[in-house]
Amino acid sequence: MIVACLAWTAGCDDASKQAPRPVATQSGALTATTPKEYFAMRCAGCHGAQGRGDGPSAATLSPKPRNFADREWQRTVTDEQIRTIVVKGGLGVGKNPIMPGNEELLGAPQILDGLVLEIRGFGR
Ligand code: HEC
Repeated sequence: MIVACLAWTAGCDDASKQAPRPVATQSGALTATTPKEYFAMRCAGCHGAQGRGDGPSAATLSPKPRNFADREWQRTVTDEQIRTIVVKGGLGVGKNPIMPGNEELLGAPQILDGLVLEIRGFGR
Protein backbone atom coordinates (compact mmCIF):
# COMPACT_ATOMS: atom_id res chain seq x y z
CA MET A 1 0.00 0.00 0.00
CA ILE A 2 2.99 2.31 0.51
CA VAL A 3 3.73 2.45 -3.21
CA ALA A 4 0.07 3.09 -3.98
CA CYS A 5 0.26 6.06 -1.66
CA LEU A 6 3.32 7.41 -3.45
CA ALA A 7 1.61 7.07 -6.79
CA TRP A 8 -1.58 8.60 -5.52
CA THR A 9 -0.70 11.47 -3.27
CA ALA A 10 -4.18 12.63 -2.35
CA GLY A 11 -6.22 10.88 0.33
CA CYS A 12 -3.64 8.30 1.25
CA ASP A 13 -4.68 7.94 4.87
CA ASP A 14 -7.88 6.11 4.21
CA ALA A 15 -6.59 4.09 1.25
CA SER A 16 -7.29 0.80 2.99
CA LYS A 17 -10.95 1.61 3.55
CA GLN A 18 -11.71 2.27 -0.07
CA ALA A 19 -12.57 0.25 -3.11
CA PRO A 20 -9.83 -0.21 -5.73
CA ARG A 21 -8.83 3.13 -7.12
CA PRO A 22 -8.77 4.02 -10.78
CA VAL A 23 -5.30 4.09 -12.23
CA ALA A 24 -3.67 7.49 -12.17
CA THR A 25 -0.78 8.93 -14.12
CA GLN A 26 1.90 10.85 -12.31
CA SER A 27 -0.09 14.00 -12.95
CA GLY A 28 -3.05 12.38 -11.24
CA ALA A 29 -5.21 12.27 -14.38
CA LEU A 30 -7.34 9.22 -14.94
CA THR A 31 -6.03 6.89 -17.57
CA ALA A 32 -7.72 3.55 -17.90
CA THR A 33 -10.19 1.55 -15.90
CA THR A 34 -9.81 -1.84 -17.57
CA PRO A 35 -6.71 -3.84 -18.53
CA LYS A 36 -7.78 -3.74 -22.19
CA GLU A 37 -7.95 0.05 -22.14
CA TYR A 38 -4.68 0.25 -20.28
CA PHE A 39 -2.98 -1.93 -22.89
CA ALA A 40 -4.44 0.13 -25.72
CA MET A 41 -3.30 3.40 -24.16
CA ARG A 42 0.04 2.46 -22.65
CA CYS A 43 1.36 -0.60 -24.45
CA ALA A 44 -0.04 -0.92 -27.97
CA GLY A 45 2.04 1.97 -29.33
CA CYS A 46 5.06 -0.31 -29.14
CA HIS A 47 3.62 -3.79 -28.74
CA GLY A 48 0.81 -3.44 -31.31
CA ALA A 49 -2.93 -3.75 -30.75
CA GLN A 50 -2.64 -7.55 -31.00
CA GLY A 51 0.67 -7.77 -29.13
CA ARG A 52 2.59 -8.73 -32.25
CA GLY A 53 5.40 -6.29 -31.51
CA ASP A 54 4.36 -4.12 -34.44
CA GLY A 55 3.02 -0.93 -32.88
CA PRO A 56 3.72 2.36 -34.68
CA SER A 57 6.72 3.05 -32.43
CA ALA A 58 8.25 -0.40 -32.81
CA ALA A 59 10.05 0.24 -36.10
CA THR A 60 12.67 2.41 -34.45
CA LEU A 61 13.29 0.15 -31.45
CA SER A 62 16.22 -2.20 -31.02
CA PRO A 63 15.78 -4.74 -29.63
CA LYS A 64 12.15 -4.69 -30.67
CA PRO A 65 9.25 -5.88 -28.55
CA ARG A 66 8.69 -9.55 -29.20
CA ASN A 67 5.59 -11.12 -30.71
CA PHE A 68 3.40 -12.09 -27.74
CA ALA A 69 1.74 -14.68 -29.98
CA ASP A 70 4.97 -16.70 -29.90
CA ARG A 71 3.94 -19.95 -28.20
CA GLU A 72 7.48 -20.85 -27.26
CA TRP A 73 7.88 -17.59 -25.35
CA GLN A 74 4.44 -17.99 -23.74
CA ARG A 75 5.45 -21.44 -22.55
CA THR A 76 8.72 -20.32 -20.96
CA VAL A 77 7.75 -17.00 -19.36
CA THR A 78 6.00 -16.97 -15.97
CA ASP A 79 3.17 -14.64 -14.96
CA GLU A 80 5.49 -13.28 -12.30
CA GLN A 81 8.15 -12.41 -14.89
CA ILE A 82 5.55 -10.58 -16.95
CA ARG A 83 4.31 -8.66 -13.91
CA THR A 84 7.87 -7.73 -12.95
CA ILE A 85 8.89 -6.23 -16.29
CA VAL A 86 5.55 -4.43 -16.65
CA VAL A 87 6.03 -2.79 -13.24
CA LYS A 88 9.80 -2.22 -13.29
CA GLY A 89 10.36 -1.73 -16.99
CA GLY A 90 13.24 -3.04 -19.09
CA LEU A 91 15.73 -1.21 -16.93
CA GLY A 92 14.59 -3.14 -13.87
CA VAL A 93 15.22 -6.55 -15.43
CA GLY A 94 18.25 -5.97 -17.66
CA LYS A 95 16.27 -5.56 -20.88
CA ASN A 96 15.82 -2.65 -23.27
CA PRO A 97 15.26 0.42 -21.04
CA ILE A 98 12.87 1.81 -23.64
CA MET A 99 10.32 -0.61 -22.17
CA PRO A 100 8.86 1.73 -19.54
CA GLY A 101 8.04 0.78 -15.96
CA ASN A 102 4.52 1.20 -14.63
CA GLU A 103 4.98 1.39 -10.87
CA GLU A 104 1.49 2.85 -10.50
CA LEU A 105 0.18 -0.66 -11.21
CA LEU A 106 1.40 -1.82 -7.81
CA GLY A 107 -1.58 0.17 -6.56
CA ALA A 108 -3.91 -1.41 -9.13
CA PRO A 109 -3.34 -5.16 -8.94
CA GLN A 110 -6.55 -5.90 -10.84
CA ILE A 111 -5.18 -4.03 -13.86
CA LEU A 112 -1.76 -5.65 -13.51
CA ASP A 113 -3.24 -9.15 -13.36
CA GLY A 114 -5.57 -8.27 -16.21
CA LEU A 115 -2.61 -7.21 -18.36
CA VAL A 116 -1.01 -10.60 -17.77
CA LEU A 117 -4.25 -12.20 -19.00
CA GLU A 118 -4.30 -9.88 -22.03
CA ILE A 119 -0.73 -10.88 -22.89
CA ARG A 120 -1.57 -14.57 -22.38
CA GLY A 121 -4.60 -14.07 -24.61
CA PHE A 122 -2.37 -12.94 -27.49
CA GLY A 123 -0.75 -16.36 -27.40
CA ARG A 124 -3.97 -18.25 -28.00
C1 HEC B 1 8.10 2.64 -25.68
C2 HEC B 1 7.77 1.32 -26.14
C3 HEC B 1 7.11 0.35 -25.18
C4 HEC B 1 5.98 0.54 -24.43
C5 HEC B 1 5.10 1.78 -24.35
C6 HEC B 1 5.76 -0.70 -23.71
N1 HEC B 1 6.73 -1.61 -24.02
FE1 HEC B 1 6.87 -3.51 -23.32
N2 HEC B 1 8.63 -3.73 -24.27
C7 HEC B 1 9.18 -2.83 -25.17
C8 HEC B 1 10.43 -3.36 -25.70
C9 HEC B 1 11.35 -2.67 -26.71
C10 HEC B 1 10.59 -4.62 -25.09
C11 HEC B 1 11.73 -5.62 -25.35
C12 HEC B 1 12.83 -5.46 -24.35
C13 HEC B 1 13.96 -6.41 -24.65
O1 HEC B 1 13.72 -7.50 -25.16
O2 HEC B 1 15.12 -6.01 -24.35
C14 HEC B 1 9.46 -4.81 -24.21
C15 HEC B 1 9.27 -5.94 -23.43
C16 HEC B 1 8.10 -6.25 -22.76
C17 HEC B 1 7.82 -7.50 -22.10
C18 HEC B 1 8.80 -8.65 -21.93
C19 HEC B 1 8.75 -9.59 -23.07
C20 HEC B 1 9.91 -10.54 -22.98
O3 HEC B 1 10.78 -10.44 -23.81
O4 HEC B 1 9.94 -11.37 -22.07
C21 HEC B 1 6.54 -7.43 -21.62
C22 HEC B 1 5.79 -8.51 -20.87
C23 HEC B 1 6.05 -6.12 -21.96
N3 HEC B 1 7.00 -5.43 -22.65
C24 HEC B 1 4.78 -5.66 -21.66
C25 HEC B 1 4.38 -4.34 -21.82
C26 HEC B 1 3.13 -3.81 -21.31
C27 HEC B 1 2.07 -4.63 -20.62
C28 HEC B 1 3.14 -2.49 -21.60
C29 HEC B 1 2.10 -1.45 -21.23
C30 HEC B 1 1.80 -1.34 -19.81
C31 HEC B 1 4.36 -2.18 -22.31
N4 HEC B 1 5.08 -3.33 -22.42
C32 HEC B 1 4.71 -0.94 -22.82
C33 HEC B 1 8.68 -1.59 -25.50
C34 HEC B 1 7.57 -1.01 -24.92
